[in-house]
Amino acid sequence: MTTANASGVGRDPGLRRGMRTRGMPALADGEVHVWRAALDPEPVRVREFAGVLSRDERERAGRFLVERDRRRFIVCRGVLRTLLGGYLGVAPRSLRFRYGSHGKPALASGSGKHPLRFNLSHADEIAFFGVTLRREIGIDLEPLRAGFATDEIAERFFSPAEIASLRTLSRTDRPRAFFRCWTRKEAYLKARGDGLSLPLDRFDVSLLPAQPAALLCAPGDPQEASRWSLSDLPAGPGYVAAIAVQGRGWRLTCWRWMEGGGVTAGIDDEAR
Ligand SMILES: CC(C)(COP(=O)(O)OP(=O)(O)OC[C@H]1O[C@@H](n2cnc3c(N)ncnc32)[C@H](O)[C@@H]1OP(=O)(O)O)[C@@H](O)C(=O)NCCC(=O)NCCS
Repeated sequence: MTTANASGVGRDPGLRRGMRTRGMPALADGEVHVWRAALDPEPVRVREFAGVLSRDERERAGRFLVERDRRRFIVCRGVLRTLLGGYLGVAPRSLRFRYGSHGKPALASGSGKHPLRFNLSHADEIAFFGVTLRREIGIDLEPLRAGFATDEIAERFFSPAEIASLRTLSRTDRPRAFFRCWTRKEAYLKARGDGLSLPLDRFDVSLLPAQPAALLCAPGDPQEASRWSLSDLPAGPGYVAAIAVQGRGWRLTCWRWMEGGGVTAGIDDEAR
């Protein structure tokens, strides 16, 4: 269990001091908080979350053809806003997002980048949110679908070195290794924010069971791998998740978002 401390978010002049939502942990430099949330809460919560969305988010929600997907989008954005608003001590509805050229959302800031950085990933009824200060961050969550983890898909998306590593494993071990590779690659891409403009087969991540999560090499820049740290996340049965964060020496703490809002419990923490 992780306990909140009183320093951290309030140290940055761009972030408000002493106004975090009750129960929210403090976020200090060098910390990464990951939140796991369920996206199918009680209908009353969905209405509450709909109330904090911006006009463009409500319009986007309205474009979903499937009601369940519309509801999950609303909850995902609602939880995101509530979390970020909690860290910043502002009303969730008052937050403004800007979007990178490949669609990565970030907090709008008057000048330069906002110090509070985040990323999120959703799969079925679950979402993971990663939050940190002054570091780029990317997160990916995937359902562990053994039928998807085929050699053909690996050959289409993975690098030659990754494919070779995968082939050293038994058929039983391959699906999980496949998704370790997939989520680590995707988390790195999402941290960079440039989507698929970086070809997937041009960089290598670790995937073997005994290897720590890592970006092993990236094209054209021998220093790139040392600029990022990767970690797997405790995704729960049937899911695989990974996070990529700029730099080294950060500390990861995972939290569960409790329905009803604001009440939190640490589920895992580890130094990187
Ligand atoms: C957004 C993208 C980066 C990931 O999409 P995804 O895996 O389908 O979806 P996830 O649930 O992991 O993430 C979606 C969230 O990421 C965020 N996001 C959107 N564009 C992003 C970008 N360029 N970079 C980082 N985050 C982004 C958004 O918050 C989005 O949620 P929202 O749609 O509710 O606003 C997608 O555009 C993409 O390029 N996917 C690559 C797919 C692929 O071939 N992967 C192979 C890995 S080996």
